[in-house]
Amino acid sequence: MKILIINGPNLNMLGIREPDIYGAQTYGALLQYVADACAELGAEAEFFQSNHEGAIVDAIQGAYRRVDGIIINPAAYTHTSVAILDALKAVAIPAVEVHLSDVRQRESFRHVSYPGMACEKTIIGKGFAGYKEAAAYLVEKYGG
Ligand code: DQA
Repeated sequence: MKILIINGPNLNMLGIREPDIYGAQTYGALLQYVADACAELGAEAEFFQSNHEGAIVDAIQGAYRRVDGIIINPAAYTHTSVAILDALKAVAIPAVEVHLSDVRQRESFRHVSYPGMACEKTIIGKGFAGYKEAAAYLVEKYGG
């Protein structure tokens, strides 16, 4: 199966941004980790990162009839974006939401997730491993 992995704003700054929260590993290291995890699971991985809400909406629309599953870390747009929620609902591709940090233990504005309302599952606070768990879930349920 083909999985689109979408990362939202500032995740390209991993390794630099707030390492106490997000760790010292870079965005490149995340891509390598997720690519390896998908390969192990027999899934094809495609990556997209943007700091722009509309570009993320376009990427989700562009996945329609092209990919079998979506893993999305909408980053700060998690807490604001009805547009990303609506895009996920529009394409109706099975989606899993991932957050590196445990957003439930952070500021109250991080407790709400709009895109999460269109996701089958949300994995938080597990760092890079959350993406692997998301890929395993999608392959188990929709792969083959
Ligand atoms: C994040 C959590 C968000 O609240 C934050 O805005 C991010 C990253 C995470 O992966 O923990 O940019 O999605």
